[in-house]
Amino acid sequence: MKYKRHTVTAALPYANGPVHIGHLAGCYLPADIYVRYLRAKGEDVKFICGSDEHGVPITIKAKKEGITPQQVVDKYHKIMGDAFNGFGISFDIYSRTSSKTHHETASEFFKTLYDKGVFEEEITEQYFDEKANQFLADRYITGTCPKCGNENAYGDQCESCGSTLNATDLINPKSSLSGEKPVLKKTKNWFLPLDKMQPQIEAYIDSHSEWKSNVFGQCKSWLNSGLQPRAMTRDLDWGVKVPVEGAEGKVLYVWFDAPIGYISATKDLTPDWKLYWKDKETKLVHFIGKDNIVFHCIIFPAMLMAEGSYILPENVPANEFLNLEGDKISTSRNWAVWLHEYLLDFKDKQDVLRYTLCANAPETKDNDFTWKDFQAKNNNELVAILGNFVNRTLVLTHKYYEGNVPQAAEYSKSDILLLEEISKFPAKIASSIENYRFREALAELMNLARAGNKYLADNEPWKLINTDAERVKTVMNIALQICANLTIVMEPFLPFTATKLRTMLNFKTDYKWTDAERTDLLSSGHKINTAALLFEKVEDEQIVNQVNKLANSKMENELANNKTEIPGSKPEITFDDFSKMDIRVGTILEAERVPKTDKLLKLKIDTGIDVRTVVSGIALHYKPEEIIGMQVSILVNLAPRMLKGIESRGMILCSENEKGELSFVSPTKPNANNGSLIK
Ligand code: 2FM
Ligand code: ZN
Repeated sequence: MKYKRHTVTAALPYANGPVHIGHLAGCYLPADIYVRYLRAKGEDVKFICGSDEHGVPITIKAKKEGITPQQVVDKYHKIMGDAFNGFGISFDIYSRTSSKTHHETASEFFKTLYDKGVFEEEITEQYFDEKANQFLADRYITGTCPKCGNENAYGDQCESCGSTLNATDLINPKSSLSGEKPVLKKTKNWFLPLDKMQPQIEAYIDSHSEWKSNVFGQCKSWLNSGLQPRAMTRDLDWGVKVPVEGAEGKVLYVWFDAPIGYISATKDLTPDWKLYWKDKETKLVHFIGKDNIVFHCIIFPAMLMAEGSYILPENVPANEFLNLEGDKISTSRNWAVWLHEYLLDFKDKQDVLRYTLCANAPETKDNDFTWKDFQAKNNNELVAILGNFVNRTLVLTHKYYEGNVPQAAEYSKSDILLLEEISKFPAKIASSIENYRFREALAELMNLARAGNKYLADNEPWKLINTDAERVKTVMNIALQICANLTIVMEPFLPFTATKLRTMLNFKTDYKWTDAERTDLLSSGHKINTAALLFEKVEDEQIVNQVNKLANSKMENELANNKTEIPGSKPEITFDDFSKMDIRVGTILEAERVPKTDKLLKLKIDTGIDVRTVVSGIALHYKPEEIIGMQVSILVNLAPRMLKGIESRGMILCSENEKGELSFVSPTKPNANNGSLIK
């Protein structure tokens, strides 16, 4: 079927950390190549993305950084949006799920399904952390995956084997908040009856046996194990409020609201949004990583089917994972190449990373990124093949013809064969792109540059100029036409280089994809601009710096891990845990024994913010009269306690040696006033 328009989405990344190369290779780069290609063909396309700002990943990050969830999403939405933009990911809109439009759209969608009686309302037992006084949805709970034995599976998904889980499926569940074993507590939630919808979903998946085998295979395996009802609401306070009565304190499941984010972003982009979501002549394609397959191929289509007025995804070309230097990319272990850092370290070299990631894309299996390979791809391919061909052509054009495109004379037999070969490249590259085989497409693009290089090497215009200057005009004309064609077919992959080359060729920018089948794009006499190198060598030193950066993060990570393992130390706490303590410098104004006790002294302390009474167990170590006027450290926001009938407000910090002897922790310089914060 020929479609009138295209809606292309790239997974909404959680706004809980910056973008790394695994994200790029997984979905953003292939999606961008696909969209740029469609635009070059003159197709009507909307490229949709935005930040996924709800769900437990955000609240966990907020807790870790000691800031609010809103501050987390504001911070990372900006970092991610800027990095995508700097890398040339050409979204038509980069929206966010905290937007008003999104809250309204997700809410309405839920309400429509609710009013249609789609959901099953059920009271079930869910895990609850008594210490944190909170239900434990999704990533708030971890445990052993019942399917593959991974000990760090989440309450909703195992990232190791890709299974979707319910928290109650986990073996040895543990709260991520307190580390405690949770208890079960009854609560009401609304379930999407995927079990009842299985026949429809199965028919839909079966009608798409053309999908990539990793995607189709995963879908079939879920269907074969039988779909289960899935709760679409959660007992949490961060997210889109459940818009029905009796749902106070509950929000929509993040995997219910996030894909609706594609729709709300389109609403924000164009008043014609319905054409892009409801018209059968629109092709909807979701680019995602493999951990998102079930949500885009089964759950979201089920939601769309249940709603009834939307089109369904036509394809979901999910990639596998990209590893880094042989190890799984991990945000928490800082084992990643962060896009915003790359853009600073390798200024104006966006296309080198785009090239390397596309050439190594994990299209059919997990793949590895190494800095050595990055260097080799740049130096041996971009510089030596593409850059070399373009540079030789442009430099010779300036040298022989003062930058004017020479007129071709008679074509030789081999010229004609080459021109025929050249005109086939756009269709070959297009076919690979349309089948989501971007590595193959990129290899074809390089074959075009190789064909150009070979043509120059075979004809040696730099020698021929001495014996047959007329023939050289034809050779250079053909080489220049190949350069012009390259600007068109390289644009989806290497947009920055395409622009640079177009400028050097002084070449119009509004040619369409199929114009690259022509071999006369540059007319004779056309004046080209000054030539500059398209690519520069990446030096060993730059690679060593990057490898060292990774080695440092590995070392820091090991150190951090070892710290928590020091025998006898208390369990690790977060910075947030620490910063909750308000510790200040204070001066002891008065001290006296608490009657009928051996250990207690009653102290009056000037904390800088007030003067208060503290009862402290230091009487065996300090005499009252010797501590008057001493500066000490006092925890001022400890809840008051009654000790021997006296209200004690705060605690004096002491060190305690192995014999149990106490010593005040006091400032070592006289510049600490009462009230100075200890941090
Ligand atoms: O895995 C993730 O990063 C999710 N935030 C992807 C969401 S995709 C879509 F549904 F919005
Ligand atoms: Zn598993």
